[in-house]
Amino acid sequence: MQDVDAVRGELLARVEAADLDGLERLRVAELGKKGRITALMKDLAGLDPDARRLRGAALNALKEEVANALERRRTALADAAIDARLDGERVDLSLPVRPERPGRIHPISQTIDEVVAIFGEMGFAFAEGPDIEDDWTNFGALNIPPEHPARQEMDTFYLPGERDGRRLVLRTHTSPVQVRTMLNQQPPIRIIAPGRTYRSDYDATHSPMFHQVEGLVIDRDLHMGHLKGCLSDFLRAYFAAEDLPVRFRPSYFPFTEPSAEVDIGCAREGGTLRIGPGRDWLEILGCGMVNPVVLQNCGIDPSQWQGFAFGMGLERIGMLKYGIPDLRTFFESDLRWLRHYGFAALDQPSLVTGL
Ligand code: PHE
Repeated sequence: MQDVDAVRGELLARVEAADLDGLERLRVAELGKKGRITALMKDLAGLDPDARRLRGAALNALKEEVANALERRRTALADAAIDARLDGERVDLSLPVRPERPGRIHPISQTIDEVVAIFGEMGFAFAEGPDIEDDWTNFGALNIPPEHPARQEMDTFYLPGERDGRRLVLRTHTSPVQVRTMLNQQPPIRIIAPGRTYRSDYDATHSPMFHQVEGLVIDRDLHMGHLKGCLSDFLRAYFAAEDLPVRFRPSYFPFTEPSAEVDIGCAREGGTLRIGPGRDWLEILGCGMVNPVVLQNCGIDPSQWQGFAFGMGLERIGMLKYGIPDLRTFFESDLRWLRHYGFAALDQPSLVTGL
């Protein structure tokens, strides 16, 4: 019968000499189900009770000692491996930093932020509506009946299916947000609603998906003077030009009466366009006094309340302010374009401005 002390001496020496893989092999070979110590335990059955007790205790102690030795050695080897790795991976602080390009704010997000900030200062609240509308909210409530030519002019995308018996459309303008707001809110109302809009159209100044911002003010005793003052202030703030000429031209929209188109002054010289006092005019937005029919459609009494509304294309005003020549490039996701026309997300620390 094998001497327990001899087995102990041999095993402990092998543990001390093993590497990490060797330790695992040892554990299986000695302590595993088919291992040597397990086999020695089985041999106990053939001994008389006294000898069995003695040898049994010695084998249990051996088993525990070997298990502990294995674990100690494993921890020591793992620690040594980590130390060696840390030693090898020491960071060299004298190396130059890796170039890392900060992300840029997309010009359309920047334009929305600017527009919302300016109207926010004038006391406008932010409103939103869904991209998928029903044709009553996009057209009918806005005094555009089914046979009205505006439905064709807007090159509407109709969707399959309907909601409450109404056809579904991708909204052709942000004006349905006016309708939703009036239906859900008591006047006075003063909202600004930027968002995506859709028309089947594609060239340098049109894209099937684009952005508009809608404004709606409902109050008592409102008139065209308020509309003119509000939009002139906005345009001068947005284009950062106190002396920006602003012109209101009579126009037609089914949902406003009277309606106007607004032009701003500019100068076209040798292929460049400069916004500000000059000989030329540039059309920039549509507006008007909310048609009493629309107020009535939305549950507001036109004998008590008046309103004005306006809508403009966000790409268009962004292109004009930041000199972007083609509207389609807004949605091509070309990183070179975004790096060129995009805006810094945070003010970058610099030697001039400090942190
Ligand atoms: N919804 C109009 C358009 O898309 C713009 C507009 C809005 C005009 C509000 C007047 C009042 O052309």
